[in-house]
Amino acid sequence: MRLGSLQLTSNLFLSPLAGYTNLPFRLVLREIGGVGLCTTDLVNARSLLEKRAKAFKLIETRPEDSPLAVQLFGSVPEEMRDAAQFLAARGVASIDINMGCPVRKVCQVGGGSAMMTELDKTAALVKGMVDAVKIPVTAKMRLGWDDENLTAPDLARALEAVGVAAIFVHGRTRAQGFGGTVNLAGIRAVVQAVKTIPVIGNGDVTTPEAAKRMLDETGCAGVSIGRGAFYDPWIFKRTVQYLKISSSRAVLPLPRGGGEGWGEGETVASQQSPGRPLTLALSPSEGEREVTSHAACSGVSAAALLPEPSFDERVRVMCRHFELMMEIFGEELGCRMFRKIAPQYSRRFGPANEFNKQVVHVSNRAQFHEILANYRRWRAQFLDAQGELLPRFRPPPMIASFMQEAGAAPTGRVPVPKGPVEVW
Ligand SMILES: Cc1cc2nc3c(=O)[nH]c(=O)nc-3n(C[C@H](O)[C@H](O)[C@H](O)COP(=O)(O)O)c2cc1C
Repeated sequence: MRLGSLQLTSNLFLSPLAGYTNLPFRLVLREIGGVGLCTTDLVNARSLLEKRAKAFKLIETRPEDSPLAVQLFGSVPEEMRDAAQFLAARGVASIDINMGCPVRKVCQVGGGSAMMTELDKTAALVKGMVDAVKIPVTAKMRLGWDDENLTAPDLARALEAVGVAAIFVHGRTRAQGFGGTVNLAGIRAVVQAVKTIPVIGNGDVTTPEAAKRMLDETGCAGVSIGRGAFYDPWIFKRTVQYLKISSSRAVLPLPRGGGEGWGEGETVASQQSPGRPLTLALSPSEGEREVTSHAACSGVSAAALLPEPSFDERVRVMCRHFELMMEIFGEELGCRMFRKIAPQYSRRFGPANEFNKQVVHVSNRAQFHEILANYRRWRAQFLDAQGELLPRFRPPPMIASFMQEAGAAPTGRVPVPKGPVEVW
């Protein structure tokens, strides 16, 4: 798919995850494959201009870490513009803007993001950035402050008018935090509010099936995956393959630029357009959009899925991630940072409490490998004669919030790590 001037190899994106989406993790994901564009953690524009070491570490990259978007955070137009120019000159592929909630009353009482108090002011800030660089500038937002203030469609429309190349929208309100269900109808309303730019849906995509459901039901052009990626770095590769097999071509009318359609309605098809890799090219006529109708192939299901990686493959990739952390952050800091990463991998190991208990204290490379060797020995008790986990010890499948039965107890969700939810 295209993002402004940028041609991407897939319509799958890595969401910014402060503390996780650093260079080692991005390299691991790119080596596995399937991700179209990776984004850094959010970076403070002023810190970047002041050349603070922490900000520079966040934008550290390598040629193989490409294409790369840097997410900027800030409220001073000149700083955001200058930081955008600085990043463009360093060869960054695109710039994403972290956006808070645009509801005035919320911002007046200290909530929300100061830059979002006025739509006009925000649009002017974004225009300053768009005009200052040739690379795409995108914006990432939630649906709004709460269910009474679903302002994302208005904001998306205003930002399209000043030239943003795409909108990323997490289908929850800020009041929701990470609870409740991702609102697919809300994402769809953003898709319908803009005229031509791609809208990328986000929230709770933890399986290829969930990515497909989000594309089908919202009409979004792509899907951005956050927690699902650190839980399962293979998700991009498996989703690309799943969408390829389960997609077929159709042209369906979908109202655009109107901002209507909040209700749960008929399934719509996605914003794919000519030249995008998951589709065949067709020219849509006026009033129609070229789409990929995943829903047309409901018979595909599990047969189209690549198998989940084996335990050995998970361990191999975890060790590669660990080595990259040592290389890029040094042994001491890298080990400290890996204490919260290793338990993400072990979620699919089957019983892993022995591993988790020890790995949260890891402080050097030799110790890490010793912990792993001990764990392999301990884990043997849960295996059958072929070395596979006995069925009763296999981890349950992941289920996105928007794919669970109504009224069912939440299950199979990725936990939310600690952090400043108010800026995410
Ligand atoms: C640990 C963590 C860190 C995050 N950091 C950022 C961030 O730096 N910038 C941002 O826009 N969103 C951030 N988010 C939000 C995610 O990008 C994403 O919108 C959200 O997690 C929903 O997607 P998911 O369900 O695929 O994780 C963060 C979320 C988490 C859990």
